Amino acid sequence: MKKILDLITAEMKTAFADCGYDEIYAKVTLSNRPDLCEYQCNGAMAAAKAYKKKPFDIASEVVSKLLASHAFETVEAVMPGFINLKINAGYLAEYMNKMAGEDQCGCEKTHEPMTIVVDYGGANVAKPLHVGHLRSAVIGESIKRMGRFLGHNIIGDVHLGDWGLQMGLIIEELRDRKPELPYFDESFEGEYPKDAPFTITELEEIYPAASLKSKEDESFSKRAHEATLKLQNGYAPYRAIWQHIIHVSVADLKMNYGSLNVTFDLWKGESDAETYIPQVIEELTEKGLAYESQGALVVDVAMDGDSKELPPCIIRKSDGAALYSTSDLGTIIEREKEIKPDWYIYVTDKRQELHFTQVFRVAKKAGFVPADKKMSHLAFGTMNGKDGKPFKTRDGGVLRLETLISDISQAAYEKIMENRSVSEEEARETSKIVGMAALKYGDLSNQAAKDYIFDMDRFVSFEGNTGPYILYTIVRIKSILAKYQTLDDKYQGEERILPAASDAEKDLMLQLSRYNEVAESSFLELAPHKICQYVYELANSFNRFYHDTKIISEENKEQQASWIGLIRLAKDVLNGCIGVLGIEAPERM
Ligand code: ARG
Repeated sequence: MKKILDLITAEMKTAFADCGYDEIYAKVTLSNRPDLCEYQCNGAMAAAKAYKKKPFDIASEVVSKLLASHAFETVEAVMPGFINLKINAGYLAEYMNKMAGEDQCGCEKTHEPMTIVVDYGGANVAKPLHVGHLRSAVIGESIKRMGRFLGHNIIGDVHLGDWGLQMGLIIEELRDRKPELPYFDESFEGEYPKDAPFTITELEEIYPAASLKSKEDESFSKRAHEATLKLQNGYAPYRAIWQHIIHVSVADLKMNYGSLNVTFDLWKGESDAETYIPQVIEELTEKGLAYESQGALVVDVAMDGDSKELPPCIIRKSDGAALYSTSDLGTIIEREKEIKPDWYIYVTDKRQELHFTQVFRVAKKAGFVPADKKMSHLAFGTMNGKDGKPFKTRDGGVLRLETLISDISQAAYEKIMENRSVSEEEARETSKIVGMAALKYGDLSNQAAKDYIFDMDRFVSFEGNTGPYILYTIVRIKSILAKYQTLDDKYQGEERILPAASDAEKDLMLQLSRYNEVAESSFLELAPHKICQYVYELANSFNRFYHDTKIISEENKEQQASWIGLIRLAKDVLNGCIGVLGIEAPERM
């Protein structure tokens, strides 16, 4: 369905053209003075320069052409040359009816779908999830859903950190703890056991212990490095342990991500890039891009016009080991071979900005991808505690996702019980949904690149720009719709949304009409916070309308049915928005 701004712009273009001016001046935007008008066109100002006339004269000429248009209620030229517009209420109501009749409320699937890899999550196998991984999961999931909603072919890849030194550390710690295991018996020739020699709980304890030990015990650290190298060279017993580590961790990660309603199409990781590393090194060397520097192999990435100095990208350390960058380059070769994405989107902490700038530049210089390939790093800031420092749990430890989720659900439970409109049991169930919304909305409503403060009390509040407020609004609409269903004097004719009867109602319609434009631009800008902003404004508009409209007691049944149609549309749009944010609404709360 056409965007309302495009429809209005089309009217404006005709008017400019009819007056003999170029259509490029006919751009219409939302008004930045909502007290004066709903939309505005500032093109007469620019046209004045080109045509050497007074802006106001041009605006007035254009306005005279627009007076006949049925799209507008008022069209006005104001000094020095603005064109102020108010849309016709009947025209707007027709737009609402059209939205109500279309799939996804008029947000069409694109006719030019892109294949897009969203690389998010990025957990490290055998290490507990940290806050950065939480943000990556929440933001990445939303980007995936936003893109899919618009009809793009989105492939979400968790891209696990499953190949580094942490593997060698675990192997050696395991050797110290359970030397009797067959993996450590070089003469062992049988089949390795099917069951892992540890549980996830043990594994999560083994890694930090090993990591600590390696800092204190040099020979242990050396052993871990050697084990890592042996694993990477394909040593069978270590491969077998590694398989167990992956298996046990991935099962746990699936559960953790699952509890966030986050799912991936691909469970690939850094280890999958391994096969492509020789090719990365070879091509970069053959093309004369890689050169030795202090024993390491590096590629220059600096370009004219850089605002700060970019150090070369190291692709092989002096000890021969590949690095994070090498692995990402290998993954790009793999993805080009298997997926050929039109767009790469990586969702990580902004501290990885330099890494991705380097990787993108090397990939393009080397021709692993064409020079004009869309490659984005969606870099996010830190989730801080109320003390302004990176968020820690109450006992000062790293984030355990389960704990965070259960804490926020508990806080939501207490809020729900304050209202006392549902049973304790139902409140328990609902609090999980509400808690999740509080957590995700609290994150997504901030511009990703900014740090934000994790403020549980604010996040679970039913008022203000919060997840629960949005859910509460949806639940409220659902309850009015349910009540309407029980009336026995409902309107018998066809349900049509009628022209707005009040300013508040018109404002609600204007908000609704922005939906397809917001859905599209938020995705292209990789900005879930713009969806949040929209959903908040829409919820406010609905609540203002509802505040001064008595729907259930309305005696004019045709009017009543129209309002029901309108609020159902509002509910569908709100639901569509929270859906792409990865949030769901309960039936009651
Ligand atoms: N495992 C990495 C980390 O914890 C994030 C991986 C992000 N994805 C990528 N392709 N580099 O920092």
